[in-house]
Amino acid sequence: MTTTAQLLLAEIEAHLARTGETATKFGLASVRDGHLVSRLRKGESVTLKTADKVRAYMRTVAEAPASKTPEASALPFRRILLVMGGGIAAYKCLDLIRRLRERGIATRVVMTSAAQRFVTPLSVGALSNERVLTDLFDLNDEQEIGHIRLSREADLLVVAPATADLIARMAHGHANDLATAVLLASDKPILVAPAMNPRMWHHPATQRNVAHLKADGVHMIGPAVGEMAERGEAGAGRLVEVPDLVTAIVDLLAVRAETATPAKANGPLSGRHVLVTSGPTHEPIDPVRYIANRSSGKQGSAIAAEAAALGARVTLVSGPTNLPDPPGVQVVRVETAREMLAAVEQALPADIGIFAAAVADWRVATAADQKIKKTAKGQAPRLELIENPDILKSIGHAAAPKRPPLVIGFAAETHDVIAYAQKKRTSKAADWIVANDVSPETGIMGGDRNTVHIVMPDGVESWPDLDKQDVARRLMARAADALAQIQLAP
Ligand code: C5P
Repeated sequence: MTTTAQLLLAEIEAHLARTGETATKFGLASVRDGHLVSRLRKGESVTLKTADKVRAYMRTVAEAPASKTPEASALPFRRILLVMGGGIAAYKCLDLIRRLRERGIATRVVMTSAAQRFVTPLSVGALSNERVLTDLFDLNDEQEIGHIRLSREADLLVVAPATADLIARMAHGHANDLATAVLLASDKPILVAPAMNPRMWHHPATQRNVAHLKADGVHMIGPAVGEMAERGEAGAGRLVEVPDLVTAIVDLLAVRAETATPAKANGPLSGRHVLVTSGPTHEPIDPVRYIANRSSGKQGSAIAAEAAALGARVTLVSGPTNLPDPPGVQVVRVETAREMLAAVEQALPADIGIFAAAVADWRVATAADQKIKKTAKGQAPRLELIENPDILKSIGHAAAPKRPPLVIGFAAETHDVIAYAQKKRTSKAADWIVANDVSPETGIMGGDRNTVHIVMPDGVESWPDLDKQDVARRLMARAADALAQIQLAP
């Protein structure tokens, strides 16, 4: 396939993603050839004349006024500046821009020179409906917009895909191209979505840079774990999926719109320390495989955010999730149950301990240090499982000051929810158990809503079906009251 055909196909795919036009209709409308796109997808070439005709058609469509969607007014703050780094995942930004637009969020794009090697500014511009900005020294840009204005006009800056190099330059305050200059000049929240080879991600230099950025208040999402574009490579380093990125952006914009659920200096939890565990754990089988579960971490994250909003100092010990760090919360990211226990012990003492993590009950007795290979005889490996430490149980049974005065556990069950939760409350020595039915038909695991029963020493409170945010709000209000009572008690 020629470069002309490759570039053209990328622009066409972007156009199709934006307009929802079918490939056949597009071919017919642009050059009266319904098979054009499928032939290009198979790797065939095109003449320059055809390419010109196709581009002229796409320009005409792009210049037609965009239709407003019903969600357009849902968010009062809705302009992001997307800084695109150079990575194979850059193409996902096309879908991102389209999906944000569907939600009434406008995207202005700055591309690094590396990003332009993966996706053309033309296709990005066609989707964002704005000229893509690429060069710090383009006088026109400076006169028309200027990098300071660029960052001021956005409500949120999103860096995706954030390469190891871009992260390093951000962490060290470089401003040697438009992308980094805009990021340095900004006083707006920044969300970074890393994407790189797993070895680059795990390199101490990258981890140091990420820690720097987090300490500077930058929000991080991902990277996700999975197969890499390079053959045979897998691990942590994939750009998170577009819907997750959209959710994180919408959440951050919404938080901004609400003036960031302001931490109350005189809130009911000010001066208190709240410790929350959240998300799944990943228990390695070998360097590329692990045992996990479907927990998204949304409920624990919402609880941590709410505790911070009530004025608490909050430590969130989170297993691997695709969620951004909640504002005003100290997040400790871990992978395994043992790491989670160590992080919890490190963070104690606390006034309230909320154990919302879906900790894996078992781990592989001896994880292989090299990828386990198939055998010629087709013999599957036997995995010996051993029990993980029970974090809630060990903290619940501990003596003060290690045991927080109020310990809250969660119980996700698929049947006999309340009965199991009551047993768990005693066996784990928790004060309360928040029980929920996670049988697949409820859609709770990974979803946005939750129906919970609060099992307390003196009875059970069943709450209606609520948004996870509302569950968090109610739970923290009740926990703050209970803590005040405990402290009043003789
Ligand atoms: O998995 P299980 O139903 O026992 O989880 C109940 C509670 O115990 C949850 O709050 C969970 O976070 C906690 N737990 C834990 N460590 C484990 C298993 C569960 O802290 N290894």
